[in-house]
Amino acid sequence: MTSEEQARLKQQAAERALGLVESGMTVGLGSGSTATLWIKLLGEKVRKGELKIRAIASSEDSEKLGRSYGIPFTNFDETKELDLTVDGADEVAPGLALIKGGGGKLLREKIVASASKRFVVVADGSKQVEKLGKFPLPVEVIPMAEPLVNEALRKLGFTPKVRVNPDGSQYITDEGNLILDCSGVLMDDPTVIGAKLDSIVGVVEHGLFLGMANLALIAEEGGVVERTR
Ligand code: 5RP
Repeated sequence: MTSEEQARLKQQAAERALGLVESGMTVGLGSGSTATLWIKLLGEKVRKGELKIRAIASSEDSEKLGRSYGIPFTNFDETKELDLTVDGADEVAPGLALIKGGGGKLLREKIVASASKRFVVVADGSKQVEKLGKFPLPVEVIPMAEPLVNEALRKLGFTPKVRVNPDGSQYITDEGNLILDCSGVLMDDPTVIGAKLDSIVGVVEHGLFLGMANLALIAEEGGVVERTR
């Protein structure tokens, strides 16, 4: 698939997700290129006065983008539950098991998704896999604990790599942490791996989103396919 084809499919998935938003909803804004397309479509509707919503974003970038369209924002002091969150994914496996965090926003993405009545994934068909793990699993780590977490992850069979920016500096998350991109494990049972990762002290969050998504809108050449758990 060329990058142009992929961009067109991402746009189709984003357009389909727009149809799920109704006035009065509180909405979670995901992060990444597909979520960005969706935020732009949503923002246009808000700007034209066709939708009245409030939002919580999963990243500083997405909030900035939303504000540029005049989307009003709320927070978890005011709003404990979101009606709908739409976000992208790096891998989508059977049961709507996901790897997320390719853009480094996995912590806030998981918080926003966990507070949502409905969590909808938008993706192009290339994100579908039979088993999670070809895409390196992002793990967000407290900087001081990185050497310890690195070793613990190696014992689980992963090859972790500290994420760096294009200029070679360490990538720092919105919450001031590091990301370890963990390759080398194709997951037969992501739930077991998720529980092991949860038990490592110093791991803030990981990019396995299991049992969270209710619907995936997967754009393929023949159209947008709806997948449920
Ligand atoms: C960011 C994410 C993104 O949703 C994921 O990386 C997919 O991105 P894209 O839509 O650009 O392919 O998890 O942390």
